[in-house]
Amino acid sequence: MKTWLVTGGAGFIGSNFVLAERKLGKTRVVNLDRLTYAGNPLNLEELRDDPHHIFIHGDIGNSSLVRQLLRDHRPSAVLNFAAESHVDRSIVGPEDFIQTNVVSTFRLLEAIRHYWEELPGAEKEAFRLLHVSTDEVYGSLKPEDAPFHEATPYAPNSPYSASKAASDHLVRAYFHTFGLPTLTTNCSNNYGPKQFPEKLIPLMVLNGISGKPLPIYGDGQNVRDWLYVEDHCKALRLVVERGRLGEVYNIGGKCEKTNLEVIRVICSILDELFPDSCYKPHASLVTFVKDRAGHDRRYAIDSSKMERELGWQAQETFESGIRKTVRWYLEHPGWVESVQTGAYREWVRRHYGEQKLNTGH
Ligand code: NAD
Ligand code: DAU
Repeated sequence: MKTWLVTGGAGFIGSNFVLAERKLGKTRVVNLDRLTYAGNPLNLEELRDDPHHIFIHGDIGNSSLVRQLLRDHRPSAVLNFAAESHVDRSIVGPEDFIQTNVVSTFRLLEAIRHYWEELPGAEKEAFRLLHVSTDEVYGSLKPEDAPFHEATPYAPNSPYSASKAASDHLVRAYFHTFGLPTLTTNCSNNYGPKQFPEKLIPLMVLNGISGKPLPIYGDGQNVRDWLYVEDHCKALRLVVERGRLGEVYNIGGKCEKTNLEVIRVICSILDELFPDSCYKPHASLVTFVKDRAGHDRRYAIDSSKMERELGWQAQETFESGIRKTVRWYLEHPGWVESVQTGAYREWVRRHYGEQKLNTGH
């Protein structure tokens, strides 16, 4: 059985990826995660007795730990999901983003390079590093612009996207300078089970259920291109197995929606699931709040390279995916409680402010 080192595999996308991979049963997964506020061991609960999932609590920037893991487990691929991932947090405190997404990612690259350089012929040939990145590195689109493609110039606008852009450039440089067999993916907004409720969709679902305001930044007309997380995970598997070395692959859902449209869909699902709720219609909970600083207006991805070269297409429609997602949060109150720690509540209080949250209620 081959072994893959997955970093950040206790977070939203990483845990969905690890679970899907173990379900397929062909890969042993070594999962390195620092368990920041966004990393949750409960995400991996199903794998508690799985001998082919090895969880390591640690930092991708801990070079001696990473070198030892590589030596001990001899993975044929590393998939790097580990990152600070929330734009709003990067505005309030960019330093963690520079530390993890730039400095620690650089250290990870160095450890991988040394490991790869010493691998014997066939193993060296087969090794892959897949760096999981974001469409936000391309900046913001105007309504009439064509979607981002792989050659769109980088124009990151937030500390988060700037730090991801820096990591993408380092990965590119390691391919060109050292020949490290890298692959980079730039994906649009994911949604689905296990997403930390600081992000738009889970925040709106959980606030809606408990009758809290649904805070929409600005005019609610910002557009995101939504992709169900399992479709992203399938795309990543294809890229790591069949992607061309040194290449970039854009992954998106062909599903552009304004934030207001997304929230209206969530509200109508809640109305249907809770016909007797005193918060019905849930859309009445919508509260317009101060805009995000530097808020990118529109993202959209052209994934034709993924379709052409790797035969990938998103399977889940937004209508079915969002229903599954709402249901997942309803059916996992233990998970919801686990993430709603004091630290989480403190963040929500500081970020949105009591006054803003209480308006209208
Ligand atoms: P997440 O915040 O849910 O999870 C990140 C995980 O990384 C957490 O488990 C955290 O504990 C871990 N981590 C953070 N710093 C670490 C470190 N220094 N060492 C080891 N582990 C560390 O993020 P996500 O939404 O699952 O995103 C995963 C990756 O995909 C990120 O690189 C992100 O930039 C990218 N991405 C996310 C989206 C999205 O919509 N969520 C879309 C495109 C790309
Ligand atoms: O595009 C990919 C990116 O998508 C990933 O790289 C990021 O890791 C991920 O967090 C996501 O970034 P966004 O900033 O697009 O996602 P977020 O869920 O934070 O916000 C989605 C949109 O909703 C955005 O226009 C801001 C808006 N929003 C968000 C929150 C949290 C609100 O209007 N109100 C809110 O409370």
